[in-house]
Amino acid sequence: VFNHVVRAPEDPILGVTVAYNKDTSPNKLNLGVGAYRTEEGKPLVLSVVRQAEQSLVNDPSRVKEYLPIIGLAEFNKLSAKLICGADSPAIQENRVTTVQCLSGTGSLRVGGEFLARHYHERTIYIPQPTWGNHPKVFTLAGLSVKYYRYYDPGTRGLDFQGLLEDLGSAPSGAVVLLHACAHNPTGVDPTVEQWEQIRQLMRSKQLLPFFDSAYQGFASGSLDADAQSVRMFVADGGECLVAQSYAKNMGLYGERVGALSIVCKTSDVAGKVESQLKLVIRPMYSNPPLHGASIVATILRDKDMYNEWTIELKAMADRIISMRHQLFEALKTRGTPGDWSHIIKQIGMFTFTGLNSEQVAFMRQEYHIYMTSDGRISMAGLSSRTVPHLADAIHAAVTR
Ligand code: LMR
Repeated sequence: VFNHVVRAPEDPILGVTVAYNKDTSPNKLNLGVGAYRTEEGKPLVLSVVRQAEQSLVNDPSRVKEYLPIIGLAEFNKLSAKLICGADSPAIQENRVTTVQCLSGTGSLRVGGEFLARHYHERTIYIPQPTWGNHPKVFTLAGLSVKYYRYYDPGTRGLDFQGLLEDLGSAPSGAVVLLHACAHNPTGVDPTVEQWEQIRQLMRSKQLLPFFDSAYQGFASGSLDADAQSVRMFVADGGECLVAQSYAKNMGLYGERVGALSIVCKTSDVAGKVESQLKLVIRPMYSNPPLHGASIVATILRDKDMYNEWTIELKAMADRIISMRHQLFEALKTRGTPGDWSHIIKQIGMFTFTGLNSEQVAFMRQEYHIYMTSDGRISMAGLSSRTVPHLADAIHAAVTR
């Protein structure tokens, strides 16, 4: 009965790792998926995460009971504080409902399904370009996806005018997906002044912000600075949704731990919204997993562990920034044609190189370097040892 099933293509991002794993070259380099690697090219488990896990294992009172449908209460509370700020009036007034979800993707999906059921406007505007999974998540959630201009390939910067025009002509009430910081894949973020203009425009048109916050602390090294865009919208008293992921900033990729917060106008509405979120979650996966959320709650609740986390987070952010400088210098030394200053200007895990799909294919074929076909490279996958290999490959690709 399944003979008619055709083979689906691999995922544009996770499929890069599948191809990389099949490559037998000793020089192969995976710059596809956004996953942090050490200078030795190894995955990193933060030492504060090991510590938190140890304390969980040593606690005999811990059991493996089901969590409630909305997850671990303490985790939810601390996650809302982390993104909104501990002194946020929205939190103090109990206007924020937070549910633990399966990392960023799960949070986006639950938020999308809630909107499709309970919000009057089914259109969501997402940036062009955006993370490849966004349009799929929201379409399957039941929303209709449209794009707003975001990136200008000419300047390799923000197309701010295009963004304002497109949001300005969106229907009143439309949902707008915003990357809280470290835009994926471009690494191009609005300035604080530009965020303020976006906020004013969106509020004046009653556009509903849906933030994807996958890199808090990872972009600048500061948890507060990277949450500033979200906090500007929360502070004005209006509604918004925020999807948070702990994959990158705590290195909890495979634990699938994240949260969806919906900021409402009153605590009464927030309670009702939460009751409906439970109806979205229960038939989807019943309730979320315990382990990752327990690690996060252990770290966020303890002052010392929290401080240690911020230090480790800053070290990861700094290593990525140093990779940007090393790659930029390496291309300069080689006299590679073109202006590569965007490598040091862009923010977060990725550089949107401007390499085209043929050049990407050439680099895979000849240099065993793997990246997404849009020319995005994960700077977190690079090390001082591999920078020269990448610079050689880019040089060869653009001069051939
Ligand atoms: C990425 O963009 O590489 C990451 O967010 C991982 C993923 O799930 O795509």
